[in-house]
Amino acid sequence: MSLWLPVLLALLISALGGLYLLGAFRRRRPKEPPLDKGHIPWLGHALDFRSNSVEFLQKMQRKYGDIFTVLLGGYYFTFVMDPLSFGSIVKEAKSNFDFTHFAKQLVARVFGYHSLEDEHKVLETSNKHLMGDGLVIMTQAMMENLQNLMLHSIGTVKGQKEWQYDGLFHYSYNILFRAGYLALYGNETVRRMGSKEKAKEFDRVHSEELFNEFRKYDSLFPRLAYAVLSPKEKLEAERLKNLFWNMLSVEKTTQKDNVSRWIFDQQHFRQEQGMAEYMQDRYMFLLLWASQGNTGPASYWLLLFLMKHPEALKAVKEEVEKVLKETNQEVKPGGPLINLTRDMLMKTPILDSAVEETLRLNTAPVLIRGIMQDMDFKMADGREYTLRKGDRIAIFPYIAVQMDPEVHPEPHQFKYDRFLNPDGTKKADFYKNGKKVKYFTMPWGAGLSMCPGRFFATNELKQFVFLMLAYFDFELVNVEEDIPPIDQSRWGFGIMQPAHDIQFKYRLRF
Ligand code: HEM
Ligand SMILES: *[C@@H]1O[C@H](CO)[C@@H](O)[C@H](O)[C@H]1NC(C)=O
Ligand SMILES: *[C@@H]1O[C@H](CO)[C@@H](O)[C@H](O)[C@H]1NC(C)=O
Ligand SMILES: *[C@@H]1O[C@H](CO)[C@@H](O)[C@H](O)[C@H]1NC(C)=O
Repeated sequence: MSLWLPVLLALLISALGGLYLLGAFRRRRPKEPPLDKGHIPWLGHALDFRSNSVEFLQKMQRKYGDIFTVLLGGYYFTFVMDPLSFGSIVKEAKSNFDFTHFAKQLVARVFGYHSLEDEHKVLETSNKHLMGDGLVIMTQAMMENLQNLMLHSIGTVKGQKEWQYDGLFHYSYNILFRAGYLALYGNETVRRMGSKEKAKEFDRVHSEELFNEFRKYDSLFPRLAYAVLSPKEKLEAERLKNLFWNMLSVEKTTQKDNVSRWIFDQQHFRQEQGMAEYMQDRYMFLLLWASQGNTGPASYWLLLFLMKHPEALKAVKEEVEKVLKETNQEVKPGGPLINLTRDMLMKTPILDSAVEETLRLNTAPVLIRGIMQDMDFKMADGREYTLRKGDRIAIFPYIAVQMDPEVHPEPHQFKYDRFLNPDGTKKADFYKNGKKVKYFTMPWGAGLSMCPGRFFATNELKQFVFLMLAYFDFELVNVEEDIPPIDQSRWGFGIMQPAHDIQFKYRLRF
């Protein structure tokens, strides 16, 4: 008899422990934000959040207002939906809100990469190569690789005088991915290939292959991040990861020419820290993901919005022609390729505004920080809440600010000059409740984890559109066709993708 008591007790304790883990006992404490655990233990609202984050969060916002806590897959997330209160999250000390711990977990699951202790420091020191003076070199490399991919058949018999047909999403993503990859990870050496032409051809073929595999991983990605792949898809994801680790390995990269300083430094620092080489290879893929997953889809939206808004297309085209003229360059048959420099790209306020507007409409990252200790949190209007250690705090700027009709009137409309003042300078004054909103659009995130590639990415987008306008005529095959809807499964990961492609045609202008 007496033997049963410990067994029963043990069972009881583990059952209670289980319930505790499932969150059954969590109650809202005084001064905490409204709490909604949903009906499913542990998962909470994870399924609704995953199937359409925007719809779910809008529903919660209507119900609870601009701060609330929801259970998502074992974690309690406090969402702050008031843009005027973002500053106190973004700028909060690391001892209160931590970004790295959460990011490390995700990166380990999705990329199999186990971080260094001072991982983020390494990133911060290399990032200078993507900004300022570093950008002059990156712009040059990007331009040469873009021209290799877009214009290589100029002057050949095949030429491109005839209309070429392609899916716009496929074309834009393909070109930007491959050119960005070559500019960052280097290109094939003339030494190994025998001639410059052969080396260039190798780059074109090899980057195409990489792109095709990348797209497969890309489409598995949201479900991989939510850990809901089928066994077969899991195998495929493993295969792809191994393929990328191999294709981007340190061994292969060191044989390339013109590897960017950004990539070079990252690899070099890790080597010096004594990281195993296979782990460095994994990191190379992580960087490929961060650097190439967003810019291609963004370029698709940008070109599509321009095609759908002739007044915007006209304004941007005039700007491009003006900049070319000012630098005494002209696109003509048999003439030299244009030399599109960083300086030229700093004289395009209209294109800048069109890029910013495109990102406002279609970039939807979720910013997450771990709450490191029990703390007080003050909203901009003075309301005070307490937050619990171990929970997470999250911002979803797409709903909270980018689509707020008070900050951005007619938020679903593409207005190419939304970010321009009447005098043609960059506009940065946006208001809510009569107060100036500092974070009026946040495609790059903010604070410590803000995208270090934002200047380079903006440049890439502008270069691509610049070259398209300078060299090609292009239009939708069916000009009446509507803009394809957004694929709802990717909210929270960055730039959105369309649910399906749209056909367009292009041909050389001369
Ligand atoms: C339109 C293109 C792009 C968009 C919309 C974008 C967006 C973002 C966002 C929202 C984050 C922050 C995620 C967070 O707060 O957790 C991020 C991080 C990052 N991005 Fe970008 N990005 C773009 C292009 C690029 C490019 C071209 C590069 C590199 C050349 C790059 C490199 C990175 C890196 C390394 C991080 C991680 C930063 C960290 O952990 O501190 N991104 N990006
Ligand atoms: C490799 O890229 C550089 C720019 O980074 C460019 O100058 C060079 O022409 C490219 N080489 C080949 C063989 O395409
Ligand atoms: C690319 O690398 C080759 C070989 O090292 C070098 O001759 C060339 O100047 C580099 N190009 C650029 C744009 O850095
Ligand atoms: C383009 O212009 C820049 C700056 O004027 C110059 O340094 C560079 O060599 C030029 N590139 C080519 C390919 O002419």
